[in-house]
Amino acid sequence: MTSVAEQLRLPKEPSTIAIIDVQWGDTGKGKFVDVLSEWADIIARGTGGANAGHTICIGNRTHVFHLIPSGILRDSDDKMNIIGTGVALDLHILCEEFDLLELNGLSFDHLRISRDAHVVLPQHLLFDRLKEASLGGKKIGTTGRGIGPLYGDRVARTGLTMLDLLNPATFRTKLRRNLDEKAYFIRCVDPEMAKAVMGHEHLEKGRFYHPETIFDQDAIIKRYLQYASRIRDMVCDTDTLLRQQVGKRNILLEGAQGVLLSVDHGIHPHVTSSDCSLAGLVKGVGLREKDVDRVFSIVKAPYMTRVGEGVFPTELGGERSEEWCSVSGQSADKEREAFPAASVNSDDPFEQGIGVRQAGNEYGATTRRPRRTGWLDLPLLRYALQFAGQELILTKVDVLDTCERILICNAHLYRGPIYDMGDYVLHPEDLLVKAIPNSEILRHVSPCYQDFPGWQRDISGARTRADLPLELLDIVSFIEKQTKTAVVAVSVGRERDQTVYL
Ligand code: IMP
Repeated sequence: MTSVAEQLRLPKEPSTIAIIDVQWGDTGKGKFVDVLSEWADIIARGTGGANAGHTICIGNRTHVFHLIPSGILRDSDDKMNIIGTGVALDLHILCEEFDLLELNGLSFDHLRISRDAHVVLPQHLLFDRLKEASLGGKKIGTTGRGIGPLYGDRVARTGLTMLDLLNPATFRTKLRRNLDEKAYFIRCVDPEMAKAVMGHEHLEKGRFYHPETIFDQDAIIKRYLQYASRIRDMVCDTDTLLRQQVGKRNILLEGAQGVLLSVDHGIHPHVTSSDCSLAGLVKGVGLREKDVDRVFSIVKAPYMTRVGEGVFPTELGGERSEEWCSVSGQSADKEREAFPAASVNSDDPFEQGIGVRQAGNEYGATTRRPRRTGWLDLPLLRYALQFAGQELILTKVDVLDTCERILICNAHLYRGPIYDMGDYVLHPEDLLVKAIPNSEILRHVSPCYQDFPGWQRDISGARTRADLPLELLDIVSFIEKQTKTAVVAVSVGRERDQTVYL
């Protein structure tokens, strides 16, 4: 069988490859990290935290990881996995993942964790939830994993790193300082609300709550020092380790979330708090962009998804879908019950969106929230590709196997008020080929669609270009032409071998 390295024509000499999601996350990049980890000697993550969720299927087993790099499934004497400096390190979840690996008889002996990674603490989860509550109807829809407040502390110079945790005296001092500051803010806000949130199961149902000081500092210190003792042997200077291996070993850099969610290049305010672009990823593992030889941009096609709030011009069912997906407690079963006839061919776009969600099992790996579904948006893709790179991998293509008619958005028609852009003025009826990454503007664009006939047959068994229907190949070449970027692979199912390399 031809190896993935041959299929993707990877360099023979040791090189560094990055995988970047160029949408809103959840494009199925975990499968390709897993596939490419056959080739890689080192697999490293550099951004995000337990807000991410990679679902990896091997045989009939499904693994969901939030923190551990997807390459862990190939942990061996000659393969190392790294959680880099830019990752928001949630030790509670990391330890749960260790337990899961142990239970499945999978090794993580060669996992290394950056000593400079910042550690997620109970106060970060609390502040994430308080902030969302304070925003009411305008919330971001975060995963509630403390990501924003953790990176906030890092920027505000009050965060704590893994290295602090390995040195209990430093940890105690810095933690107390951080908690005193946080407790002060909470007392000025709403202690009752704080009490309720501290009782959440992610916060061990109140273990860290103290009725007077809000935080039980001793309980936090005790628990986190326990975590530290479990992972201390994996902690090292991963930045230097990785830098020394560039050009000597095959390195795979695994992006988290997607460029449209990047704090630097995404569409504010509905973004995560790390930079999900290529630049953010390489920085998060201590490398430079010029250290990377190839970049694969992962695109879900010809439909796309987003989870949480925020603009989504091609959303099937528009605002109705956004609202429906944001109702708490929404689930696949409830949807099936409420809309039993929904399908990828429903006439009503809202029901068609549900049909696509069900066909693609688009329910969040981290939160189980229904992901909003819509058509592939090329203006957004053209924008996002500027921060990723050179070759596309299309994923979940088989999901639309039974779809009769496929739409691809090729331009945005601006329909909002005159808008001052600084160096030019945006007028109603202006046509935008590349998306403007601004919520106010995107809220007022109408997608201009190109219509394609569906292929309407099962492609899950396709393994070569010749196995792909002409209708699909037409769509692939349209995407290539319109983005001026080559499509190098099409994923036709969740298994490793269900991939057509072009
Ligand atoms: P946070 O990262 O939990 O702060 O959430 C901020 C925004 O990013 C929310 O809209 C989340 O739904 C979104 N988000 C965070 N992580 C992921 C992910 O892995 N996939 C998709 N969306 C995500």
